[in-house]
Amino acid sequence: MLELSGLQVSRHGRRVVDGVSLTVAPGQVTALLGANGAGKSELVLGVAGLMPVTGGTVRVDGRDLTGLTPDRIRAAGVAAVPEGHHVLTQLTVEENLRAAGSLLPAAEIAAVMDEVWTLFPELAERRRQKAGTMSGGQQQMLAIGHALMCRPKYLLIDEMSLGLAPLIVSRLAKVVTDLAARGMGILLVEQFVEVALRLASHVIVLRKGAVRLSVHPDEVRHDRTRLSDAYL
Ligand SMILES: Nc1ncnc2c1ncn2[C@@H]1O[C@H](COP(=O)(O)OP(=O)(O)OP(=O)(O)O)[C@@H](O)[C@H]1O
Ligand SMILES: [Mg+2]
Repeated sequence: MLELSGLQVSRHGRRVVDGVSLTVAPGQVTALLGANGAGKSELVLGVAGLMPVTGGTVRVDGRDLTGLTPDRIRAAGVAAVPEGHHVLTQLTVEENLRAAGSLLPAAEIAAVMDEVWTLFPELAERRRQKAGTMSGGQQQMLAIGHALMCRPKYLLIDEMSLGLAPLIVSRLAKVVTDLAARGMGILLVEQFVEVALRLASHVIVLRKGAVRLSVHPDEVRHDRTRLSDAYL
C-alpha cells in the first residue's frame, strides 16, 4: 500500500494540503477529484518529494518515505507525472527515456525501455523524433513513460487528460487499466469525472486541502449531487 496519513503540504505558510489520509492499493486506481485550488497538485508534489511535507507521513509498504529527496522516493517505487506533461523538448523520445532511466543499472535501461515501447507503440515509432515536435497526447504518453522508467510500484498522475482530445483520453485510460492489471497502484487526478469513475475502485474528493468524500465509485455513479456537494 501507498499510505498517506495526515499529510500536510504548505505553500507560502498556508496549508494547501491539510491532513489528508488515503491509501492506494497495488493493482487499483484511486481517483483524486476536486475543484481548482483544492490542493490535488500540491498533494502529488508533496508525495513525490517535490514540495516539502510539513506534517503527516507518506509510507510505502510500511516504509516511511516522508521528507526523502525526489530521487530516493522514485527509487523506493513511487513516481509522479506532474501536471502539464513535462518532457525535455529538445531531446528525442529515446533520449528522454534514457535520461529518466538514469537511476537504473545500465543493463536494465533497455529492458524497461522495451516495456515502454510495448505500452506505447506510438512512442516506439517516434523514438528518434524530438519530443517537442510531438502532439500534446504523445507528450503525455512520454511523460508517463518517463515516470515508468524507474519501475514504480505506485504511480501518481496529475491531470492526465487536461487539454487532450477524447480519443487520446480513451487511449490513456486503457494504459492506466493495463498498468493496474499488472499490479501497479495508481493515484489519478482527473478532471473528467466519467473517466475517473470508470477507472477507479475508490474515489476521493478534496476540498480546501482536506478529504470531503471517500467512496466506492458505485456510490456516486447515479447520485452526482453527492459528488458536486463535496466539490463546493
Ligand atoms: N504557484 C503557486 N503560487 C502560489 N500559490 C499556489 C501556486 N500553486 C498553487 N497555489 C495555491 O495552492 C492551493 C492548492 O493548489 P493546487 O494547485 O494544489 O490545486 P489543484 O487542486 O491542483 O487545482 P487545479 O485543479 O487548478 O489543478 C491553491 O489555493 C492555490 O491557489
Ligand atoms: Mg492541479
